Amino acid sequence: MIRIGALVSGGGTNLQAVIDNINEGKINGSLVSVVSNKENAYALERAAKYGIESTVIRVKDYPDRKAYSEALIKHFKEKQADLILLAGFMVILDPVFTDAFPNMIMNIHPALIPSFCGEGFYGLHVHEAALKKGVKVTGATVHFVDGKADNGPIILQKAVEVKDDDTAEVLQKRVMEEAEWIIYPKAVALFAEGRLKVEGNKVIRL
Ligand code: GAR
Repeated sequence: MIRIGALVSGGGTNLQAVIDNINEGKINGSLVSVVSNKENAYALERAAKYGIESTVIRVKDYPDRKAYSEALIKHFKEKQADLILLAGFMVILDPVFTDAFPNMIMNIHPALIPSFCGEGFYGLHVHEAALKKGVKVTGATVHFVDGKADNGPIILQKAVEVKDDDTAEVLQKRVMEEAEWIIYPKAVALFAEGRLKVEGNKVIRL
């Protein structure tokens, strides 16, 4: 059974999807620590509801991004995390963090990478950009995290239709329901079963 850590900033619906899949026995793992950079993140209430340990580690309590990232490394090493999930975590970490956990950090991005990704593309902005471009299909991507934003090896992707009258909010909801909440727990389950092998920039499913 793997030990899973999570970093959150907001609502935590992806965290909820992982919790549900653990409770349904679909993921052979347990959530050992949820860390938020914001004290008012609703994701913390979700963790509390299921008796999952959580803590707030704020950016402003550290002199710079590197010191903040080092504090997170220390925390997750202490918790002996095998996998760390970025679950709507809106802080860009220093590369020391990704170097400390190679192919052990996953992120969910609400678009089909390499579209609408990189710095500045997060949350609703991603869907606004997709609508502005007029794409007919968007989706979500789960990937391993490396030193660059939205860049690491892709694990799973799922396409979602864009409709003519979509607003960013409507599209965000559809991408979550039809893609994110399905592929994120699935990727975690595959990792927990030891069925993900990284070869260069590719993830092979064993
Ligand atoms: C999700 O749509 C997630 O894909 C996105 O933020 C939302 C968080 O929702 N993440 C990013 O944009 C990261 N670049 P949640 O807190 O309800 O899971």
